[in-house]
Amino acid sequence: MAKVKTKWICQECGYETAGYLGKCPECSTWGSLVEEIQQNLVQTPTNVCFLNTQKPSLLNEIELSNEIRMSTNISEFDRVLGGGLVQGSLVLIAGDPGIGKSTILLQTSGLLCKNNKKVLYVSAEESLNQIKLRADRLDIRAESLYIYPQTNLELIKKEIENIKPNVVVIDSIQAIYTQNMASSAGSVSQIRECCNFLMQLAKNKNITVIVVGHVTKDGNIAGPKVLEHMVDTVIYFEGDKYKSYRLLRATKNRFGNTSEVGIFEMQTKGLVEVTNPSELFLNEHSQISTPGSVIIATNEGTRPLLVEIQALVGATPYPTPRRVTNGVDFSRVLQILAVLEKRVGLNLSKQDVYVNVIGGVEISEPAADLGIALAVATCARDVIVDSHTVIIGEIGLSGEIRAINNVEKRIKEAQKLGFKKAIIPNANGNFEEKIEGIEIVRVKRLIDAITSCVSKANQ
Ligand SMILES: Nc1ncnc2c1ncn2[C@@H]1O[C@H](COP(=O)(O)OP(=O)(O)OP(=O)(O)O)[C@@H](O)[C@H]1O
Ligand SMILES: [Mg+2]
Repeated sequence: MAKVKTKWICQECGYETAGYLGKCPECSTWGSLVEEIQQNLVQTPTNVCFLNTQKPSLLNEIELSNEIRMSTNISEFDRVLGGGLVQGSLVLIAGDPGIGKSTILLQTSGLLCKNNKKVLYVSAEESLNQIKLRADRLDIRAESLYIYPQTNLELIKKEIENIKPNVVVIDSIQAIYTQNMASSAGSVSQIRECCNFLMQLAKNKNITVIVVGHVTKDGNIAGPKVLEHMVDTVIYFEGDKYKSYRLLRATKNRFGNTSEVGIFEMQTKGLVEVTNPSELFLNEHSQISTPGSVIIATNEGTRPLLVEIQALVGATPYPTPRRVTNGVDFSRVLQILAVLEKRVGLNLSKQDVYVNVIGGVEISEPAADLGIALAVATCARDVIVDSHTVIIGEIGLSGEIRAINNVEKRIKEAQKLGFKKAIIPNANGNFEEKIEGIEIVRVKRLIDAITSCVSKANQ
C-alpha cells in the first residue's frame, strides 16, 4: 500500500515543513504546527486569483465606481459594518459556541429579503428542520431566502450559479470542504482554500459573502491567521454567556472604522437591538454607594457608554500579593497601582487587588484610568464615591490627570441618565455651553480627584 505523504502546516502563518517542529521558525509560535496530507494542487480556475486578469493602471485614470451598501435593517449591525454590507465584500463573523451567530445571520437574511434581496443561507452544521424551527421562533417570513444544508463547496458553487443570490451566508467556514483537497474539513489548507474561493466569488460575481468562523478556546478565530487577512471585514460576536446581552465588534474593516460596537440583547424572539446601552449596563448598579464601586463613561466608537468598575482590596495571605483584572488591561492596572503608591501614598504592597468591569465589557481606552484608581483607592480606604458621580480621565505617571477625547458627549450621556456630578480632567475644562443638571468638577491631579470624592462621601 502506498504510504500517505504528510506535511506540517503552521496554523498561525501557514508555514509548511516536512516534519514536526515544536516552534514555527517563521512566526516563532509554539505548538502551532498541525499535520496534513500532502498533495500537489493544480491551479484550477477556482483557485486562480481574480486579480490575475488585471493590468497595471495609472492611478489618475482609474474610474471610481461607488461602493454599493445594503442596509441589514439592523442599525446596530450596520453601525459595526460602517454603514451597511458592501456589495462584493467578504465578511467574517466569529464568536464562541452558542453565542448567537446563526441567530443574527438568519435574522439579517430575513430582513435583507424584505429589501428585495435574494439570500442563500448555506447551513453546513444544521439540518433544514433545525433552521426552520429557529426561523419560526424568530418569526422570520422571507420569500427570497433559500436554505441549503450543504458542506461540499463545489455543490454550493453550483447552487450559487443557479440561484444568483445577492448575499450568501456560509455557516460555518470550518464545516465546508473542497474536494480538490484530501485533508478534512476544518484543516488549515481546507479553510484557506475555501476562503480563497469565496473571496473570488465575492469579487468576481459581486456577491456579498458572510462567513461564520469558530473560535479556539483562547478566543482567536480557528484556522490559519491568513483567514483574517484574506477577508474584508472581521467581526467578533462577544458577550457574557450568563447574561443576555451581546456585543458585535469589528477588529478589521476595509470599508469603515473598527471602533464601533453593536449591542444586542438575546431574547426568545432573537437578538434585539439595544439603542440605549448605558441603561442596560447600569440597571444593576445600586442606588446605594459601596466602597470600590465607581461609574465611568467610556467611548465605544462614536458612542459614549456608562459602565461600572468595581475593585476589591484586601490583606493578602500570600507572600506575593495577587492582582486580578477582568475587562481592563492588566499592565494598565499595575501602572495605576504604582501611581497610587508613589503619588498618593496608598500602600498596596501587602494587599491583593481585584478589578472588574461589570457586564463583561472590555475597556481599552485610558479614559478609564481615573475610574480604576478611584475604585481601588475608595475600597482600600473604605470610603465611597457617590453613586450619582461619573468619573472620566487618564492618569499620567506623575499623577496628573490628562485630557481625554469627547468629554462633552460623555458628560451629556451621564446627565441623560440622571447623574449629578462629573469628575473630569482640568485640561478638558473649557466648554462653550454649560451642561444643565450636572456639576462638573475639574481635577488636575489624582490626589485632587480622590479628595473631591471622599469629602463628599463623608458628608
Ligand atoms: N428557545 C429559545 N429561547 C431563547 N433563547 C434561545 C432559544 N433557543 C436558543 N436560544 C439562544 O440562542 C443561542 C444559540 O444561538 P445560535 O445557534 O445562533 O448560536 P451559534 O453561535 O450559531 O452557535 P454554534 O456555534 O453552535 O453554531 C443559545 O445559546 C441561546 O442563548
Ligand atoms: Mg450556529
